[in-house]
Amino acid sequence: MTDSVAASHAKGKCATDKIFGANAAAVKDAAQYGNDKVVNATIGALMDDQEKLACIPTVEKVFRELPINNIISYAPIAGSPAFLKAFINLAFADHKPDAYIEAIATSGGSGAIHHTIWNYSDAGDTILTSDWYWGPYKVLCQDSLRKLDTYTLFDEEQKFNIAAFSAKVKELLSKQTNVVVIINTPAHNPTGFSLTDSDWDNVLALFKECAQDTEKRIIPLIDVAYIDYAGEKNACRAFLKKLGGLPTNIFPILACSMSKGFTMYGQRTGAMIGVSSSKEVIEEFKNINQYTSRATWSNITHSAMNLLSTIYQDKELLAQTELERDALYALIRNRADIFMSEAKEANLKMLPYIAGFFLTIPADQPDAVCEKLHEDHIFAVPLAKGIRIAVCAVSSSKIKGMAAKIAKAIQAVAAS
Ligand SMILES: Cc1ncc(COP(=O)(O)O)c(C=O)c1O
Repeated sequence: MTDSVAASHAKGKCATDKIFGANAAAVKDAAQYGNDKVVNATIGALMDDQEKLACIPTVEKVFRELPINNIISYAPIAGSPAFLKAFINLAFADHKPDAYIEAIATSGGSGAIHHTIWNYSDAGDTILTSDWYWGPYKVLCQDSLRKLDTYTLFDEEQKFNIAAFSAKVKELLSKQTNVVVIINTPAHNPTGFSLTDSDWDNVLALFKECAQDTEKRIIPLIDVAYIDYAGEKNACRAFLKKLGGLPTNIFPILACSMSKGFTMYGQRTGAMIGVSSSKEVIEEFKNINQYTSRATWSNITHSAMNLLSTIYQDKELLAQTELERDALYALIRNRADIFMSEAKEANLKMLPYIAGFFLTIPADQPDAVCEKLHEDHIFAVPLAKGIRIAVCAVSSSKIKGMAAKIAKAIQAVAAS
């Protein structure tokens, strides 16, 4: 570019969004051939079986009934105390670790990731995540002048690859004082994988071994954006209890989001929750992240915070919300079950799906396969090494037959 006035660190920034592109192609196809012919498996939001954006009914009711002043007023920068208390208790359910725990309101889970990268790694540092990852992690790192490196998530048995994980954590710790490790579990985007409780034992054993060097700090950033669609509430949170009693140079931060769990995507509300054995670390956490909020977006949406605390404080509303959310979860579960059983019949290899909005098929030429699928009016997101299917967005009736068509497209591309 010859005409550029951007500062040197900003030059050339351009977020090319494959998801947006794939969705646009699906919308165009639907305009030409009709909605019922087109399978749009690109969208990262929960659609009901009529393919309308789903809202948890009690969430809608409470939201519409909020007094206007609860919507338009400024919120405290750290977040309203009732919201923070509610989100902490909802995040851990019966598995609150024995530790100092505090939260800061953030602009969605994205805001929590942003603050963690900014405040817990140094300029130029490398952040670690798995080789299958949500694309914006890289953008969030690079915009803060950090790099992103990856380890191989699965071993040959499609289990969590603790050996690859250990090697990368140790490699980065040999070069950096702080290492932020992003772990998106349970119900990982894009694979639907969840670390087991024994995977967590291995991960924490490694962190404790590394933390013996007290000059080093390990910051596990646990992205729990999909935790409300990951299985039974307490079972999928059991690992959180293990975050208590850790050395003070291991500082887990949970990135929480109301986008999926409360179907409030556009309300941009989430929280970062810090868990530490040290009171000072937690006080610092409150101070530095509140400061960064002031410097980034000031305070966040008051209405969604009020919505969450209103629901949390009323046992009946909370029970009703959870019931209605479970019905949405059952919808995705059913779609994923159909896909997985058909994939087996079609000999279509998948990455290990446990739960969540997405599943992934590994493929050699993902862009070409997705292009080929357009002939069948199927639209999915090509990843670096596979194809992401948003089971959250495709009705059960349209899921039927998809696996066989994907298997056929993969064969056709391989043969061409
Ligand atoms: C893996 C993952 N983490 C975090 C988020 C954060 O979402 P939000 O910023 O809307 O809360 C998303 C949303 O798509 C996601 O897929």
